[in-house]
Amino acid sequence: MPVPTPTTPRLLQAAQWILDPVSYLSTNFKHYGDLFAAPLVYGSDEPVLLVNEPKAMQYLLTHDMGKEFTTPGEPLLEPLVGRQSLMLLSGTPHRHRRQLVMPAFHGEHLKAYGQVMMQVSQNVIQQWPVNTSLDVRQAMQQMTMRMILQVVFGLYQGDRYAQLERLLSLRLDMLSSPLSSAILFVPWLQKDLGAWSPGGRTRQLAAATDQLLFAEIQARRTQPEGDRSDILSLLLAARDETGDGLTDQALRDELMTLLLAGYETTATALTWALYWIHRLPDVKHQLLTELDAVADPTDPNQFLSLPYLAAVCNETLRIHPVAMLTFPRRVTVPIELCGYHITPGTLLQGCIYLIHQREDLYPQPAEFRPERFLQRQFSPYEFLPFGGGVRRCIGYALAQYEMKLALGTILTQIDLDLLNQNPVLPGRRGITLGQGTPVKVRKRGARSPAKTPLFS
Ligand code: HEM
Repeated sequence: MPVPTPTTPRLLQAAQWILDPVSYLSTNFKHYGDLFAAPLVYGSDEPVLLVNEPKAMQYLLTHDMGKEFTTPGEPLLEPLVGRQSLMLLSGTPHRHRRQLVMPAFHGEHLKAYGQVMMQVSQNVIQQWPVNTSLDVRQAMQQMTMRMILQVVFGLYQGDRYAQLERLLSLRLDMLSSPLSSAILFVPWLQKDLGAWSPGGRTRQLAAATDQLLFAEIQARRTQPEGDRSDILSLLLAARDETGDGLTDQALRDELMTLLLAGYETTATALTWALYWIHRLPDVKHQLLTELDAVADPTDPNQFLSLPYLAAVCNETLRIHPVAMLTFPRRVTVPIELCGYHITPGTLLQGCIYLIHQREDLYPQPAEFRPERFLQRQFSPYEFLPFGGGVRRCIGYALAQYEMKLALGTILTQIDLDLLNQNPVLPGRRGITLGQGTPVKVRKRGARSPAKTPLFS
């Protein structure tokens, strides 16, 4: 039996996927269920099979055939992150690069970032004006950009960092709507037709960003500082078995990967979290009561183990997974999936969005209900905002830590109000899923702690 394939013309499907990915996925899931073919592969006629069922997802992420990342994503990602990025490596070079970069995201390194990330959130919220409208997305972008600059470079202040912050924000803002995101999917839009064409503008920004990154790499090569624990220092010191280090180009590609993957994603997640917290008074009340009971709110570790805060972060990433899909994996052996025979060469992608919307796992999936995560444990194939297997997001622990610290700091210190009670729907932002309309809040001033205890 062939895998179900939507009958809508290919071009129309591509347009739906670019302009309204959530409707595209939900409509096809209703018609075709756990596995269906979709023409999502950039610049190719080859369909990809979307996996929307936990057992099949487990197979996809853990079976041998899921180990190779394949070429179809490259034309989409390469202009952003470069050919030598971890994201585009596969096999042994991929494994080696992961081994090199992973330590910087765990253990003592992660703990060390906590204090600085908290300081960054405090510095940023102090600058928010009282009683005026604040665009949450922009504010969260600024916060997470500074956090990631700190993690990657060990610094976020100074002329070079200010310029990097500006250029990276401009570059990603060019993808802020579904229509402008089309540049990623339509090859002719990427052509350089002069300074004001989208392709020309992207190239200008890329060249200016590269200049800054190469200058930073050069400065660090000539003046290495032994005791730094940032990622660039780690990458500069790394050697392969023949004693060779990474080239400037490989370093540049890795820095770009971490900067882009690391700030846009977390900014989106935080924006959604603040939206839901301020839209649902019960959620806000429970969260504030838990936060107010923290003995020392200046200690970042205290925010790590709060159950309701963790549940709010998880529910945010469940209802609006920033990455709708895992990276593609190519089947190298014949397999059976959801009762279908899949031949070698077929491309598969896990659909995180559709798994997170399954009624059988998450009753009333459109409702924001953090209690789900207090009432039951989900397997890594039922709840997988960071993907899984050998390509699981390298920044998953950092992103969760950032979310908890940023929310903890913001909510314990200032009083915010949503300016508009209309529902905000998800919409495409580049290759990710962001907000369809801006989330705006008003800062009312400093917050006084909640009076009612949550647990008596
Ligand atoms: C809420 C925040 C984030 C979300 C939802 C997210 C989600 C994801 C997902 C779904 C993948 C693909 C996994 C797969 O195919 O199985 C991924 C890969 C990746 N992420 Fe994240 N991510 C987030 C934050 C970060 C941060 C903070 C960093 C680093 C600073 C980061 C760096 C990466 C890298 C380098 C990869 C590629 C890994 C590889 O190919 O081996 N991400 N992320």
